[in-house]
Amino acid sequence: MKFKNSKVVIVGAGNVGSTTAYSIINQGLCEEIVLIDVNKEKAYGEALDMQHAIHFMNRNITIHAGDYEECKDADIVIITASAPMPKDSNNRLEMLKPSIQIMKSIVSSVMVSGFSGIFIVVSNPVDIMTYLVWKFSGLPAKQVIGSGTALDTARLCCSLASMYDLDSKSVHTFILGEHGDSEMVAWSSSTIGGKSLTDVMSDNADRTKNETKETLLEQTKAAGWEIFSRKGNTCYGIAASTTAIVKSILFNENRILPVSVLVEGLYGIDRVYLSVPTILNSSGAKETVEIRLLPEEKEELIQSAKVLSSFYEELK
Ligand code: 2OP
Repeated sequence: MKFKNSKVVIVGAGNVGSTTAYSIINQGLCEEIVLIDVNKEKAYGEALDMQHAIHFMNRNITIHAGDYEECKDADIVIITASAPMPKDSNNRLEMLKPSIQIMKSIVSSVMVSGFSGIFIVVSNPVDIMTYLVWKFSGLPAKQVIGSGTALDTARLCCSLASMYDLDSKSVHTFILGEHGDSEMVAWSSSTIGGKSLTDVMSDNADRTKNETKETLLEQTKAAGWEIFSRKGNTCYGIAASTTAIVKSILFNENRILPVSVLVEGLYGIDRVYLSVPTILNSSGAKETVEIRLLPEEKEELIQSAKVLSSFYEELK
C-alpha cells in the first residue's frame, strides 16, 4: 500500500504536537516521525523521550527532531504551532493576527522542501489557518485539511454517552461549521443506537433531566475552556482526533469525519474552509457528504461560514 513506509512531520513540539506524536507512535501508524520546533532543544528532548517509550510499543518507529528539509518526502505534515492564546481570551479567533505571519513562514519553509503530501492543520483558529495554508501552499484543497470539529463532535458524543450510560462510539452526531463559537449541531440527523436523538432525549427524561439541545451545545463549546482554564492547554483530545485523521489517510480508511475542508457549493456555501462530514483516505479529503439539514440548521451553518470568511480579508 502507498503508505507502507509512511513519514509524518509535526511542526510544533509543544503540548499538542508532542502529544499527537505520542498518540501516533502508540498506535504504530507510521515508520518515521520528525518533530520541528523553533525551540530545537525542546524538539530534541521530546523526540529523545519518546524514543525510549518505543521500546515498549508494538512498532519500532523512528522519531527524531529535524528541520524543514525533512518535509520533502513526508506523506503528512501536521501543523500545531501557533501564537499563544491572548491572556484572558476565550475566543480562538483572537489568536488570528499574531498567527498569520507564523503560519506563512511555516508553510513557506515546508513548500521550499518540495513537499507534495497532505497538510493537517491544527493551529487555531483552525478553520482560518487551514484556509491560509491552502492559499499559501498552492496545494489542491483536498490535500489541506483542518482538524476542525472532529474534537467538538467527540465532546458532544461523550456528554450524551455519559447521560445515557453508553459507549460514546454509539452516539452518531456531527458538530459542523467553525471550531468555535459559531459551530452548530446537525441535531435532526443525530442518532443513538439507530434511534433519533430527539426521541432518546424525550423517552429517557429521567436521564435527560434538565439538559436541552441548547445546554448540550453550550457545554460542548465551553469544553475546551473548561480544560484550558484548569491546566493552561488542551492536548489529549485534540491529539487523539488528529491521530484519527492521520490514520484514515495513512491506512486509506475512507472514514467519514467532520473536518475542516474547502466547501465549494455545499449548502450554498462557497470557497470557505469549515467542518462538514468528509470521507478521508490516502488522497486526503476524498469528498464531502451532504447530510440532510433542516432549514434552520442549514442557516446556522451558513452563518458559521460567514463568520469565518469575514476574516479572509486579513490574510492577504
Ligand atoms: C480544543 O478545543 C485545541 O481548540 C482545541 O481543545
